[in-house]
Amino acid sequence: MAAPLTLSDVEQRAAERIEPAWHDYFAGGAGRERTLRENEEAWTRYRPRQRVLAGIERVDLRTTVVGLDLATPLLVAPAAYQRKADPGGEVSMARACAAAGAGLCLSTFSHAAPFEIAEAAPDLPRLWQVYVFRDRGITDELIARALDAGFAAVVLTVDLPVLGSRDRERRHSWHLPADELPAMRLARERGLGGDDLEVIDPTVDLAYLERLSTTLPVPVVVKGVLEPEDALRVAEHGARGIVVSNHGGRQLDGVVPTAEALPGIVDAVGDRLDVLVDSGIRRGVDVAVALALGARAVLAGRLPLWGLAAGGEEGARTVLELLRDETATALHLMGVAAASAVPRDAVRRE
Ligand SMILES: Cc1cc2nc3c(=O)[nH]c(=O)nc-3n(C[C@H](O)[C@H](O)[C@H](O)COP(=O)(O)O)c2cc1C
Repeated sequence: MAAPLTLSDVEQRAAERIEPAWHDYFAGGAGRERTLRENEEAWTRYRPRQRVLAGIERVDLRTTVVGLDLATPLLVAPAAYQRKADPGGEVSMARACAAAGAGLCLSTFSHAAPFEIAEAAPDLPRLWQVYVFRDRGITDELIARALDAGFAAVVLTVDLPVLGSRDRERRHSWHLPADELPAMRLARERGLGGDDLEVIDPTVDLAYLERLSTTLPVPVVVKGVLEPEDALRVAEHGARGIVVSNHGGRQLDGVVPTAEALPGIVDAVGDRLDVLVDSGIRRGVDVAVALALGARAVLAGRLPLWGLAAGGEEGARTVLELLRDETATALHLMGVAAASAVPRDAVRRE
C-alpha cells in the first residue's frame, strides 16, 4: 500500500502519475513564471500570531459566501479538463468536496456536465464558472443548464480575454481536445467553430456583467480582480462577490501575488462585496492568513488537482481534509474561534 498522502508530497506523487504534456498544462504558468512562483511565497510574508489561553474547544469553520452556506471556508477552484488528472474527473472532485465540506466551482471547460455533478453530490454547494462565448446565446444556455442542476451562483472569469503566454503549453504540439467537453459540443451544435480558446469573446465588458447581474436569479461573482478600482467598478455593476486572483500565475506574468493585492481590495470595497481569493494556497496556514486579510473564503486550484491525480476521489478528499484540518489547527493556535471572524491583527506583515 502506498504511504499516506501529505500536503508536501502530493505534488510529486501527482507528477509521477500525470502524462508529462498534461502535467505541463496543469503545473505551468505564463511567461517567466514569476507570478506563479511568487504566489506561494507571498502567503509566507505574513506571520500568524500565536495567541494563548483563548479557551477555545473547537474552531467553527462555517462561513457564508454570497448567501451560500459553506461548512468550511474552502472551495475547489474552476479548472478545466479534470479527467486528464484522473478518469473520475470533476465527478470524483465533487464527491471529494462533499466529503470534506468544501464547495465546488465547476469550469465552463469541465469534462462533466452540471447535471452529473448534481447527481454525484446533490447537497454540494456549487457554483458555475462562466467563460463568455462569441455567441452569447450559447453562454446563456450553459448558464441555464447549470442553474437547472442546482448551481447556486455564477462565477464570471474576467482575466482571460485572451490566453496568457504559456511556454510550457507551446512546447507541446497538441491542441486541447475540445470535443471532449459538453460546453464545446454545444458550441459545435450551434455552429460556433474554433478550439476552446478561440470561442471565447474577448470583448466582454461591464455592460455584460450588469446584464448578467440584473437578469440572473442567482448572485454573480467576478473572478480575476487584482486592482481596487476594478473591484469598485464590478461592485457598481451588480457583482455580489469577487475572487482576487491572478489565475494561478497563468495569465499576465509579473502581476502581484494575490496575498499582496488582497488587503488593499478589502479596504476599498468594505462590505459592498464578499471577497474571495485564490492563487498559491498550499497549506492551511495560508488559508488562515487569507481570512485574516479579509477573505471570506479561499479557492484552491492545483492542490486538489494534485490530490485527484495522485489518488482519484480519495486523493482529492484527503488533500481537502488536510487543508481543512490544518486551517482549523492554525486558527486554534492563533486564538481565533471562528473562520468567519478572523481579525486583521491575527497576522503580522514581515
Ligand atoms: C489546470 C488549470 C486549469 C484552470 N482552468 C480554469 C478555468 O477553466 N476557469 C477559470 O476560471 N480558472 C481556471 N484556472 C484557474 C483556477 O481557477 C485558479 O484561479 C488557480 O488555479 C488558483 O491558483 P492555484 O492553482 O495556485 O491554487 C485553472 C487553473 C489550472 C491550474
